[in-house]
Amino acid sequence: MAILITGGAGYIGSHTAVELMKTKHEIIILDNLSNSNRESLERVKELGGRDLKFYEADIRSRQSLDLVFAENNIEAVIHFAALKAVGESHEKPLDYYENNIGGTVILLQAMKAAGCKKIVFSSSATVYGSENTSPLKENMPLGRATNPYGTTKMYVEQILQDLYASDEDWSISLLRYFNPVGAHKSGRIGEAPSGVPNNLMPYIAQVAVGKLDFLRVYGNDYPTDDGTGVRDYIHVVDLAAGHVSALEKVLAGPGCDIYNLGTGKGSSVLEVVAAFEKASGRAIPYKFFDRRPGDVAENFADPGKANDELGWRAVRGLEEMCEDSWRWQSQNQDGY
Ligand code: NAD
Ligand code: UFG
Repeated sequence: MAILITGGAGYIGSHTAVELMKTKHEIIILDNLSNSNRESLERVKELGGRDLKFYEADIRSRQSLDLVFAENNIEAVIHFAALKAVGESHEKPLDYYENNIGGTVILLQAMKAAGCKKIVFSSSATVYGSENTSPLKENMPLGRATNPYGTTKMYVEQILQDLYASDEDWSISLLRYFNPVGAHKSGRIGEAPSGVPNNLMPYIAQVAVGKLDFLRVYGNDYPTDDGTGVRDYIHVVDLAAGHVSALEKVLAGPGCDIYNLGTGKGSSVLEVVAAFEKASGRAIPYKFFDRRPGDVAENFADPGKANDELGWRAVRGLEEMCEDSWRWQSQNQDGY
């Protein structure tokens, strides 16, 4: 039996594929390469020590999906494929709704037609909005998303829950990621943002390597210890291991469950800067700027449910996240 990974050439998908290669599952990746390239898959094969099947295809193409399901005996899907840039989602909301919501509906229709009713979905802590207080728990009421990207995650969560309510044969895991950072220990795979990075860790890494002059710290007047924003950074390899655990739960039997994948520990922007300086031995110059619209002061998980029910726990700390980001950035200055 095989596992289909949509978006498996991307940042989190490629790390998850490497972790899955340690299991007995056959791996099939489907990706349209809109935000990734084939080289990441070559490196996944190199790190995993075995082959995988790749389809260059789009989740919005029912025809392509039907072919993939007809040619393979797919037991479950791990669904990463999505557009993910918060800023861009304000400029191109229809692209985000079509790709992330429309694409997911077409994928679910193809799965249903093929009799495959097991799925692990990439959601985001962004669904908690700004009204809830950290530590965030899965049973808190969801907030209002501050951007169209976040709205797509809220809708897809609802669609999956409605699907389960309509047919309890489905087995669904909704994973709310906190802030994925870091890279595989080998330095062979990592996050390769196109253009100037939006997120903190890749931005800092590019300052350290000299591609960018200084970090803009968005806000030093938040009600946090040092005034800068606090987030729950999670090592991407821990996150990948969380998918393997969620997959085993999904394979074990029907249900619809939501899990936070975070460490439970928040770090401020300045703490991340200091940890990265230590890991890289480079200075990270920074300047304070106004708060970034839509940002919250503090956001970290209560990961207790995933710890208890999935038997999973994030084990890598901020130091290791920075060391691994730095290794990836310094060895792959222009990405893949
Ligand atoms: P990524 O862009 O590196 O990976 C997504 C992959 O999906 C890319 O390889 C892209 O080419 C592919 N893709 C996009 N649209 C597609 C389509 N229509 N058909 C086929 N392939 C398509 O992003 P990532 O950081 O690895 O994120 C993976 C998932 O996790 C996404 O759903 C994202 O929204 C979610 N997520 C990411 C973060 C984060 O900070 N990285 C946080 C929370 C949730
Ligand atoms: N930050 C800076 N300078 C930068 C980039 C970020 O100071 O150049 C700060 C932000 O203000 C925030 C922290 O660093 O306090 C983390 O910012 P990121 O952009 O790395 O991460 P976010 O928490 O803002 O974004 C995450 C996910 C998104 C998700 C969003 C919703 O990466 O996918 O949460 O809250 F949509």
